[in-house]
Formats: sequence, structure tokens, C-alpha cells
Amino acid sequence: MREDELFDIEMRLLLDGVRLVYGHDFTEYAEASIRRRVTQWLSSSKFATLSEAQAQVLRDPEVFDSLLRGITVNVSEMFRDPHFFKVFRQQVIPYLKTWPFVKIWLAGCATGEEAYSLAILLEEEGLAERCRIYATDLNGAVLETARKGIYHLRDMQRYTRNYLASGGRASFSDYYSALYDHAIMASRLAERMVFAAHSLATDAGFGEMHVVFCRNVLIYFKPSLKERVLRLFNGCILSGGFLCLGVKETIDGRDVACQYDELAPNIRIYRKRYEAPEKKTVR
Ligand SMILES: C[S@@+](CC[C@H](N)C(=O)[O-])C[C@H]1O[C@@H](n2cnc3c(N)ncnc32)[C@H](O)[C@@H]1O
Repeated sequence: MREDELFDIEMRLLLDGVRLVYGHDFTEYAEASIRRRVTQWLSSSKFATLSEAQAQVLRDPEVFDSLLRGITVNVSEMFRDPHFFKVFRQQVIPYLKTWPFVKIWLAGCATGEEAYSLAILLEEEGLAERCRIYATDLNGAVLETARKGIYHLRDMQRYTRNYLASGGRASFSDYYSALYDHAIMASRLAERMVFAAHSLATDAGFGEMHVVFCRNVLIYFKPSLKERVLRLFNGCILSGGFLCLGVKETIDGRDVACQYDELAPNIRIYRKRYEAPEKKTVR
């Protein structure tokens, strides 16, 4: 048997074991991407083969945590894709202003930059008081960073550019204080955020939501898992609510697509239609 075929078998066994022992299901992640991530993790580990690693991964939660960090891609940034945030500000915020209370779910929030970006935008639009942000991820380590809201100072210049390009109205430095080489986000921004562990592959929905963000997460999933997750979101999003995906992600061709309108071309903000009222029979 060829080495790469053996590797694929070992990987399948490892992922099945992880699902059975830890409940995390990576079996429906896009194959090429997960193979690359597992290969990188293995070459940075002390194990010669995946079979050797398997015993330790399944028995030692710390080894599993290192595999989890290796498998998941946690890169994020403040006001990532500034144009998206600009359109969100211009076209979604006016709808949010018509609701007395707004619940927003950020699924796959990674280290929290997206949550702080949104909190800044909502504050500038006078909506902070009536919004609640539920930010979830399957990786507990990144949620810890998100909760702390402490980032590298060296990234702030780039984030400032993103913020301004997204239509930011103040000075980005108003939202953090610098300490040595760190930027600590203003604590008021996190007041209406709830961070929680949640897996899109195995867990149920998060109750009724006005807005769901799931940006740059679905690209790592096989079509079957994308379908599951979109159905999960659809079950949560209220009529008239919004689904926001990453620039490379779309609902085109998926079961739920007929229930949504895209707000602006290629921005990946979708609005859920109101159900047509049932026709009354006139006697
Ligand atoms: C590339 S980051 C995206 C971060 C942020 N949404 C953004 O666009 O900047 C992808 C995140 O999805 C999370 N993720 C991957 N699989 C997941 C799953 N099954 N359930 C929940 N989160 C998941 C990863 O842990 C990672 O933090």
C-alpha cells in the first residue's frame, strides 16, 4: 500500500477515535484541507506516524488539544473584509434599529476580533444597549483569548485601516488601551457579549436569532456538513433576519437558498424572507 493511502486510513481511524472519545466530529471536514492540517501537526509533533500519535491523542487531553489547535484555522482580524462591514452598516443596521432587542450569533468566532468589531459598530450606531452578541467556537483555547480581548499592538495599524475603510466614525484607538506590546479592548465592548463553546458539527441551534454571522468557517466543511449547518442556522434565524457568510462562501445551490434574498451582490449577506401568509378561502 502506498504511504499516502496508509496515511488516509490512519487519519480516518484517528478522527473516528476523536469523535468517540471527545465528541468532536471532524469526519465531514473538507478532505484536502484536513489532510494538510493533520500532516503539518504530525510533522511538528514528536510522533513518527499517526498510528503512534493516536494512542496519545485518545488518552491525553493535552495532546488532543494540540491536535485541535493544529486542525482548526483560527486566523481572524478586526473588520476583516472592510467592505462587508460597510455594507452591514449601511444596509443591515437600519433594519436592526427597528427591533426593540437584537440577538446576534457569531458562529466560529475564533479569537474574538469579529465580535469586538461588531460591538464597535453597534456602539457607533447607538445599538449597543439593545443588542446581545453570542460568540461561539468549538476551540476552547481561542475562546479564552476572545474573552480577554487582548491582542498584539503591532496588528492595530492594520485594524485601524480596516476600521476606517469599513466606515468607522471615530478614532480606532478610542476602543483599546495600549500596554507594552498589547492592545486591551475597552471592557464596555464585552459587556453584552457571551462567549460559549459550541460545535456546528454536533450541537443543536442557539435559539431565535435576528442575525447569524458564520464567516470563513464553512469553507473548511464538506458539502454535507455545510448543508447541516445552513439548516441549523435557518432554524434559528427569524423571518426578516440576516445570515452573513465569508466572501468565499455562499448559500447558492443549498436547500435553504429559496428562503433568502442576497442583500448586495457578492457581499454574502442574506435576508430571510417573511413567509407568505396562508391564502384565506373566501366563502
Ligand atoms: C478562520 S476562523 C474564522 C474567524 C472569524 N469568523 C473570521 O471570519 O475572522 C474559523 C473558526 O471556525 C472554528 N470552527 C471550525 N470548525 C468548527 C465547528 N465545527 N464548530 C464551531 N466552530 C468551528 C475554528 O475553531 C476557527 O476558530
